[in-house]
Amino acid sequence: MKLRDRVLLPLPGRHAAYLCRPPMAVTENQVKNALTEVKYPGFSRDIVSFGLVKAINIDDGDVRVQLAIATNDPNVPATIKNDAEKLLRGIAGVKNAKVLIDIHAPPAGAGAGGMGATRLPGVKHVIAVASGKGGVGKSTIAANLAVALEKTEARVGLCDCDIYGPSISLMFGTRERPMATEENKIVPIEQYGLRLMSMGFLLDDTAPAILRGPMVTRYTQQFLRQVEWGELDYLVLDLPPGTGDIQLTIVQTVALAGAIIVTTPQEVALIDARKAATMFDKVNVPVLGLVENMSYFICPGDGTRYDIFGSGGGEREAKRLRVPLLAQIPIDIATREAGDRGMPIVGEDEKSLVTAEFNRIAQHLRTTLP
Ligand SMILES: Nc1ncnc2c1ncn2[C@@H]1O[C@H](COP(=O)(O)OP(=O)(O)O)[C@@H](O)[C@H]1O
Ligand SMILES: [Mg+2]
Repeated sequence: MKLRDRVLLPLPGRHAAYLCRPPMAVTENQVKNALTEVKYPGFSRDIVSFGLVKAINIDDGDVRVQLAIATNDPNVPATIKNDAEKLLRGIAGVKNAKVLIDIHAPPAGAGAGGMGATRLPGVKHVIAVASGKGGVGKSTIAANLAVALEKTEARVGLCDCDIYGPSISLMFGTRERPMATEENKIVPIEQYGLRLMSMGFLLDDTAPAILRGPMVTRYTQQFLRQVEWGELDYLVLDLPPGTGDIQLTIVQTVALAGAIIVTTPQEVALIDARKAATMFDKVNVPVLGLVENMSYFICPGDGTRYDIFGSGGGEREAKRLRVPLLAQIPIDIATREAGDRGMPIVGEDEKSLVTAEFNRIAQHLRTTLP
């Protein structure tokens, strides 16, 4: 018996005695708790809330855990098994811990983005606009890219998946309430020829949405599956920052054609962009390219260029990730103003340098994802 299995019992006076404690049975709760420490590689979410645990068997000190994972990447189950067994062996009373993993390929027809995600009927390509860091311009990029795609005669939808901090309603200047069909589907809001969905349409004021985890998952699923998107060439998803619940729900719910990662040239943003790229890589969603936002500033007075957040970061990172650098978008006052006014710059100013960059991304997507 190990010393820590004994309890020190304080007795009156100077005497203390070690009493032997009967070995405690390992409980299912202890096992589950330990497993919540195991993160799905690349994500900030654990394998329990992810629904990967299929069975737990405890026989004295022998613990067996059965997991089921849909992946094509052999590193994913290997990492999970290793992490889980290490944690299980750390539970007092566990002598043997074995994690068995039932690995199956993502279902056929899921296309890219495994994990059981399926295609959205009628939608050709779903593209996620993501970043590890907040405030780098995801919503601005998603909104302007959607408009640029629409101008190429494509049918385009834009889904604001930032449930906690929606901005698409503001950027498109509408707070119209969506209607429901008889089949209980939500009809997206039409604006400038685009179909839009955002939490901003459902909230009464600008107060941030206070939602619990399961509600966020449900809203995200509904925004994707319960909205009558109709026939679309592209559905652009504006993601919240990070690698958490919403991102995971998305890759589990719909098959993504790919992800565009937004970063600023600073090292702090690049580190987070790399995390986002890793997350998509782990679930076999291709990274279509990197967009460097706030790349530089041209002084309106004398035309001098200032690299406010440094330079070359996006290019280096794109090379490292072996993906194209799709655009370098300057810090531009008109772009910010247009967003605040409710009309993305691409729809407002055809001659803007920023519009040209978005047209370039749109053309690239038209060719690579026709
Ligand atoms: N290239 C840019 N030039 C000027 N302002 C920008 C640019 N990109 C984004 N912004 C502004 O920065 C703020 C944050 O951008 P947003 O798109 O909401 O970022 P995120 O969605 O990543 O949080 C917004 O006020 C937006 O108008
Ligand atoms: Mg945003």
